[in-house]
Amino acid sequence: MKELIHNLLEDTINSLKQQALVPSDLNARIMVDKTKDKSHGDLATNLALVNAKQAGQNPRQFAELIIAHLPESALVEKTEIAGPGFINFYLNSHWLAGQVEQMARSEHLGLIHDQQQTIVVDYSAPNVAKEMHVGHIRSTIIGDAVVRVLESLGNKVIRANHIGDWGTQFGMLIANLEDVAKEQGIDPTQISLADLEGFYRQAKQRYDSDETFALRARNYVVRLQGGDEYCHQMWRKLVDITLNHNQQTYDRMGVSLSKSDVMGESLYNDMLPEIVDDLLKRGIAQENDGAIVVMQPEFKNKDGEPMGVIVRKKDGGYLYTTTDIACAKYRYQTLGADRVMYFIDSRQHQHLMQAWSIVRKAGYIPEQVSLEHHMFGMMLGKDGKPFKTRSGGTIKLRDLLDEAQTRAEAMISERDSDLTADEQAQVATTIAIAAVKYADLSKSRTTDYIFDWDNMLAFNGNTAPYLQYAYARICAIFRKADVDLDQHNAAVILNQPQEEALAQQLIAFNDVVHQVADKGMPHILCNYLYDLSGLFMSFYEACPMLSAQDSLKASRLQLAALTAKVLKQGLALLGINTLERM
Ligand code: ARG
Repeated sequence: MKELIHNLLEDTINSLKQQALVPSDLNARIMVDKTKDKSHGDLATNLALVNAKQAGQNPRQFAELIIAHLPESALVEKTEIAGPGFINFYLNSHWLAGQVEQMARSEHLGLIHDQQQTIVVDYSAPNVAKEMHVGHIRSTIIGDAVVRVLESLGNKVIRANHIGDWGTQFGMLIANLEDVAKEQGIDPTQISLADLEGFYRQAKQRYDSDETFALRARNYVVRLQGGDEYCHQMWRKLVDITLNHNQQTYDRMGVSLSKSDVMGESLYNDMLPEIVDDLLKRGIAQENDGAIVVMQPEFKNKDGEPMGVIVRKKDGGYLYTTTDIACAKYRYQTLGADRVMYFIDSRQHQHLMQAWSIVRKAGYIPEQVSLEHHMFGMMLGKDGKPFKTRSGGTIKLRDLLDEAQTRAEAMISERDSDLTADEQAQVATTIAIAAVKYADLSKSRTTDYIFDWDNMLAFNGNTAPYLQYAYARICAIFRKADVDLDQHNAAVILNQPQEEALAQQLIAFNDVVHQVADKGMPHILCNYLYDLSGLFMSFYEACPMLSAQDSLKASRLQLAALTAKVLKQGLALLGINTLERM
């Protein structure tokens, strides 16, 4: 709606220019906002105020001029000038009602499929032979929500799980896998590892303390890099074991990643020599004391000197940066990306900027293809320090989900409920996963985020249980009315301000989903759904539904049905499930 008013105002300014009523070079800043107080209309703009000087007018006169030239429009009921020169817009409730009816009839709740980009989304990206821990949660959850949003608008999304599946650590891991298998008397290719973390620690400890083991490990690194069949098989085994572990976590959390989305670091190995040669040949990289380096005057170190990025070490080894150069190139040249979005924490920002600056310099990707770092801060405990176990270790994602489950069960069992024990268990599981996901999604992702069980599991406030409950309550109204929520279709009448406010919020859904797609920020959708629930509650209190006259009752049920559908669909876009009974 803001958009529509914005367009009207833009047309008005253009027409004023054409008629030479304002200078033709006027570069008007147009901002439209929702009013806080409905006695000032529904939307307002300070256009006349902020551009008056440039337009050579006094603000109130300019406002009058704008209103006098505003094109005829079905959505505006009336306008007025307020204070020093604000323009208030009152929307036409018939127009609004028509929009709601149209949305209710439309196939995708008014979501317009107007995007057809191929978008690669890089998210989750845990490391092989390690358990997923809290450090992976934000990338996984936020990335997955954005993927769903992008797809809902028609884009082709390629999920890219850039797992850390390459590096010198594989020597010690292979050697240890061999030994563990021998102890257990099984073929190493048949082994399964219940405790990945323990296995990794054991390998590291032996590597650090046992010289023969370390020698063997280093030998395996060389063989693995040289393409040795046996080492490759052992490596594959380690990757498979890890992927199986991770898949369980993804499935449990309702994350839409599968094994076919894995494009780990190793995928790019074969491309690295060629890239370094190319950079050398074209003078983008230089040799420096045996290493190959790209100087980047645009990046300065602490002492203000230009920095160099090593793309090949003296010993011939490649680096994380080299891999990300190849990776970006591959995403454009092979996967055909129009846009690449990386959901990685803010500590890797400089790394990405350096890799991409080389990518751009080398012209591997044209300027119009955007490479975007959607970064986020760390997950902190309630004390504001990095979120750790009591003994100071990293918290495994699995343990975190277990705790969420236990807490949700305890909470559910305290409530009065006419649900069966099975249904209650189902409710607890759904709430547990939703609470963890939503708590993260609902915060602006650029900041650090404080993980707080009590907040995220509360039934009031901007939480998953609150929204899930709002949905279940509307379902209950329909059960009581004996009306099918999905099939209900009625004319919409907007008499009360609460009905209008709810209607305005409902029809903003498409706009909000587009904003999330543009910015990669799911918290915008969370805020929208939270506001929607609040507006529904006000409407519910002020406007009796089941006791209203026929057509009014049908209209109010229509508003309620649409609210439920938007809540369900909106939460689904965030990767969160709803329940009809809670
Ligand atoms: N595996 C890396 C880590 O755990 C994250 C990879 C992110 N993606 C990328 N293209 N660098 O830190």
